[in-house]
Amino acid sequence: MKSMEREQKIIIEKDFSEEVNEVRENQEKSLAEKEMQEASELFGDLINQVSSRYEGMPDKMRENFIAHNSDILKSSIEFGMKKGFSDNELKALELSAILHDVTKNDSLPEVIDQKFKKTFGEDSFEYKRIEADYRLLIHGKTASQESMEILSDEFLVKHSIIDDFENIREIVSRAIAEHMGPNPGYMGFVLEATNKKLKDMGETEIVHPRARGKVSEVLLAADMKSLASEHGICKVISIRYNFNQAQDRKVVQEYKDKGVNLTMGEAALLSAIESANQARDMISDLELKMEISKTINEAMGVEYKYGEEDKIEILNCEKALQKQRDYLRIVSQEEQSKKDEDELEEVRTRLREAA
Ligand SMILES: [Fe+2]
Repeated sequence: MKSMEREQKIIIEKDFSEEVNEVRENQEKSLAEKEMQEASELFGDLINQVSSRYEGMPDKMRENFIAHNSDILKSSIEFGMKKGFSDNELKALELSAILHDVTKNDSLPEVIDQKFKKTFGEDSFEYKRIEADYRLLIHGKTASQESMEILSDEFLVKHSIIDDFENIREIVSRAIAEHMGPNPGYMGFVLEATNKKLKDMGETEIVHPRARGKVSEVLLAADMKSLASEHGICKVISIRYNFNQAQDRKVVQEYKDKGVNLTMGEAALLSAIESANQARDMISDLELKMEISKTINEAMGVEYKYGEEDKIEILNCEKALQKQRDYLRIVSQEEQSKKDEDELEEVRTRLREAA
């Protein structure tokens, strides 16, 4: 074949394979949409039961919880179908997604709550902090335990699952316990700080097991996708604004010391981007990792807001990342020149000793 013909053939094949990919992606999407529709109908009562557990929360927060659960169910189905899950695996995954945050609004067990009150003082900031953090950190374990009770034989039969009951309960409860993961960004910081306090009080420290098995990994990937999305980045920025200004101020000062003018909002945004990247790195399956990368790329194109109504800072990801690159370049140049100087000094000393 002449080289021009060969080139044309390659171009045609490329166009064709792009088209095939597009058709396949659309097919996958519509199958996943259909499954989402069916799951929402089949498990509608369970979805409502979970939503009713969030009653008593401020409206906005409750809406966010319900929207998050629906996003996780949707992404879980997409990922599970991509990975060729069987019907029973898909059902176990859907139940895990629906139930994974069921206890997130529950109050603390009475015994530990009393101990926190006694140690820190009921009206203290420290008590409010540890109460909120502890609740967040144990919700995977408590939801996992509760899922075992909800998924009775009777419930499973009623919801068109006719065999493998023990196995399904085991897979669901494990996936929920493991959705806490090895804690990217903010959660890692909260876990470490809370465990230190628990240790000082002689209490059992909290352990978050790693995701093992197909269903666990897909549920975790769906949760991590949510953290890496535009919505997840907004959430981290708002947590930084409300609870972590001291840390961001420290970062701003470190940048300033190197001559880089970073704002508080940009420090919060960089921390959110770091959490998103860590979330992606927690997933070992390459295909799922790519999906999260795609989500991060989309989220990077969005402008974010930091602060409150009267004083809002508009944030641009590329601008903040450029400042981070500048800062890291300066730090590494300084480290290099310090290393060069030390080496020179060592040579000088050796020369002096030889003379
Ligand atoms: Fe959760």
